[in-house]
Amino acid sequence: MYLPGFLSLAAVASILSTASACDSCNGNLHRREAEGGGEGGEPGFSYLGLTGPVNWNQFSQACGSGKTQSPINVVSTMQTSSYGDNGEYADIGATGFNFTNTGHTVEVFYRGQSALLGGVEYELQRFHFHTPSEHRLDNEWFPMEVHFVHQGKNDPSKLAVVGIFIDTRDDNVSDPMMSRLATLLQSIEKPGETVIATHVPLQGVRTAITSAKKFTYPGSLTTPPCSEGVTWYVSNTILGVSVSDYKAFKSVLGYNSRNLQADPGKQNVVEFAAQFLPAVQNRVQAKKERRARATKWTA
Ligand SMILES: *[C@@H]1O[C@H](CO)[C@@H](O)[C@H](O)[C@H]1NC(C)=O
Ligand SMILES: *[C@@H]1O[C@H](CO)[C@@H](O)[C@H](O)[C@H]1NC(C)=O
Ligand SMILES: [Zn+2]
Repeated sequence: MYLPGFLSLAAVASILSTASACDSCNGNLHRREAEGGGEGGEPGFSYLGLTGPVNWNQFSQACGSGKTQSPINVVSTMQTSSYGDNGEYADIGATGFNFTNTGHTVEVFYRGQSALLGGVEYELQRFHFHTPSEHRLDNEWFPMEVHFVHQGKNDPSKLAVVGIFIDTRDDNVSDPMMSRLATLLQSIEKPGETVIATHVPLQGVRTAITSAKKFTYPGSLTTPPCSEGVTWYVSNTILGVSVSDYKAFKSVLGYNSRNLQADPGKQNVVEFAAQFLPAVQNRVQAKKERRARATKWTA
């Protein structure tokens, strides 16, 4: 399925919004599909071969030509944000929220919690996981990364994602959120399965957002439609996970990490690579000439 080149932020906002079902906002995008795509809204993509990240341009042109694409190599000299930031999400209690295997990630639809990032008020929409990490920190990658996706409270077109790296610990002590979700994961091993996530402690996350230094840059969704205008906050506080909890996530998620993108403002990596390939027209012409020669010989 081909999507119109670049999805406006308004379209992304309505994909994210709880209220609008979004049947009309972009022709073929539905909220269910948006959920299926982790951050993004395109269901047909994968992390394998012909539908994998180097070919995501077939779903949305922003993936192959956008100049502020995510993820990137975060370097510790980048601009940081911390003063006044606030991600004091309440622990998930007895009522619980859907924890769904979308086929692209596992995602907790924990909505409505307030956050303050870079002076802007946001509302949490959901959070999901990647193995291995999508961002790197001074070129180091981590076994996992969790993304907290937010929408602007006053301006729904504003999107912010907080990324937190997750690393294994020698003492095998998991962050309490990770151990709780690793248990629940056993109920959603197959795409499409949902379990109600109850009693999920989030103290590690609160610390990684409120008290930590966060590297910030203008980026995009890391899944098709790769829409830009997303403000990223990558925390330098790392959550711990035991080896067995990590393996539980890894076996359900498989590999769901987009390849590294160019630094903000630089040429798109796919577009850059494509210029070294013979143009499609050249190949079609060469084929025609070969066929013409073959015809002459047989005539
Ligand atoms: C939770 O998941 C169930 C089963 O997939 C679905 O029917 C329900 O609408 C979801 N609830 C919310 C609030 O998303
Ligand atoms: C951590 O867990 C792994 C796998 O379960 C195990 O092999 C290893 O011995 C554990 N390490 C410690 C310090 O308990
Ligand atoms: Zn993500």
